Amino acid sequence: FSCGIVIVAAGRGERAGQSAEGPKQYRTIGGRPVIAHTLNTFATWVGTGRIVVVIHPDDAELLGSALKHVPTPADLTVVHGGATRQLSVLAGLEAIAAAGAKYVMIHDAVRPFADHALLDRCRQALLGGADAVLPAIAVADTLKRADATGVVQETVARSNLYAAQTPQCFMLEAILSAHRAANAGARADFTDDASIAEWAGIPVVIVEGMVDNVKLTLQRDISMADERLKGSAI
Ligand code: C5P
Repeated sequence: FSCGIVIVAAGRGERAGQSAEGPKQYRTIGGRPVIAHTLNTFATWVGTGRIVVVIHPDDAELLGSALKHVPTPADLTVVHGGATRQLSVLAGLEAIAAAGAKYVMIHDAVRPFADHALLDRCRQALLGGADAVLPAIAVADTLKRADATGVVQETVARSNLYAAQTPQCFMLEAILSAHRAANAGARADFTDDASIAEWAGIPVVIVEGMVDNVKLTLQRDISMADERLKGSAI
């Protein structure tokens, strides 16, 4: 089993606010940039083949400094992303395809807490024949739909509802043609890759995600991640 890895890190992270350290994937948590934690997890996983990191053209130096915090050298290629996450993923997939791979995992740089057990579950599902694998957790909160003024309109039954995470994992050929078709059809509104697979008619299989595998979005997510790592050797 050898799997190409696409780490998307080309976003500007505007919802996390401005920082001298740059976009949120380069902010320091637990003494290292967020993306260094993420890269280290993949660089030390047995299933990892080539890693493609998709960055914004302005961030080459930030990535260079972050890589000094990744102890295990990886087979790593850097490409430039696009204006949306979807375009950044496509750039990464093309780079994986150019080198050749059967499987690919697509992961947000800003999810530094995915662990090897999660990657192993994804691998098992791919080896079991799934074309598309989505780590997700069952929704625990009661869900409400509200109108634009914040008045609740209804309670949404939460049974069978899941919150999607990454890494989302695919047969490379299947997800690459789905992404190319979405791009060619000017469909630019997909916020994750499983939804592109769904749109293309590829069945998506859920594996158990991780409660801790949060996406660092706001300033408080970054502060909480830093707190959590204090004193830990992760
Ligand atoms: O903005 P959001 O938190 O949804 O971004 C998820 C991931 O996608 C982040 O790691 C971000 O860097 C990446 N991204 C990207 N290219 C974009 C927008 C987001 O690689 N144009």
